[in-house]
Amino acid sequence: MNYHKLRRVFVWELPVRVFHWINALAITTLCITGYMIGKPPAIMFGGEAWERYLFGWIRYIHFVAAYIFVANFVFRIYWGFVGNKYANWKNFIPTTRKYFQEMWEVLKIDIFQTKPGEHMAVGHNALAGFIYFLTFIAFGIQVITGFGLYAAMSESWFAGLFTWVVPLFGADSGVRNLHHILMWFFILFTIVHIYLVFYHDYLKGRGEISSMGGGWKFIEEEAFQAEKAKEAAESKKAA
Ligand code: HEM
Ligand code: HEM
Repeated sequence: MNYHKLRRVFVWELPVRVFHWINALAITTLCITGYMIGKPPAIMFGGEAWERYLFGWIRYIHFVAAYIFVANFVFRIYWGFVGNKYANWKNFIPTTRKYFQEMWEVLKIDIFQTKPGEHMAVGHNALAGFIYFLTFIAFGIQVITGFGLYAAMSESWFAGLFTWVVPLFGADSGVRNLHHILMWFFILFTIVHIYLVFYHDYLKGRGEISSMGGGWKFIEEEAFQAEKAKEAAESKKAA
């Protein structure tokens, strides 16, 4: 039997984990209520429409989830500057040659499968980090288009900051369409994301899924030492 010596590494801090699950819950709620707003189900009621408040509630839930989603997102951006090295914004934005090299390496090994072996990353690998970055940009556009639409129906000062959005697009319809299309991006992202997380959990056996619960991952001792040596070499070069 093949034994691995594994080291327990604390990767995802509590704020990152709390962000993750609030974000997942908020997006799920926004997708469900948003879909219903875009394609209202024909529900037959015995009474008058005004006796029910079904769509009022659906829209209300959409807007409450929207505020939670925005606050949580802003918090994650802040944590990208004050959190640990795995939470840092540099994991998401390709600014160095090394980042591009790692992305290419992950593409070759995990996606095209033209290179044998395994890519080792303690936090997000470079490709995953970049995909999260694109998702964060989509979050931003969803907030702008969402509050752009909301500005016409809300008296809140925050929504008032987005009155320029609809005139920029010329009409409500363009903003709505973009807002709608992005919902499908999030649905697609979620399906692929959950598949990949489960796949990596099974394939690598390092506790990928539970890492977003407790924060810990299990890393091969040699890989851990290699990462430490790489970090030491980089900080020596920077000094
Ligand atoms: C069963 C559901 C889910 C599980 C088990 C799960 C698990 C995970 C894990 C293990 C990571 C870290 C992966 C890595 O190292 O790259 C992660 C990151 C992430 N997940 Fe999920 N996830 C789930 C659902 C979702 C949903 C629904 C969304 C939103 C649409 C989402 C958005 C994200 C984001 C944005 C990150 C990056 C987190 C950060 O660094 O702040 N996840 N997830
Ligand atoms: C992941 C995030 C979100 C998703 C998936 C989402 C999804 C949707 C969808 C699919 C629609 C229906 C569009 C149509 O086909 O007509 C919608 C409507 C709307 N959304 Fe969102 N949304 C999100 C975030 C937000 C945010 C942050 C706001 C900000 C307040 C917002 C405000 C609105 C408004 C005002 C409407 C129009 C409601 C109406 O006319 O009754 N959404 N959303």
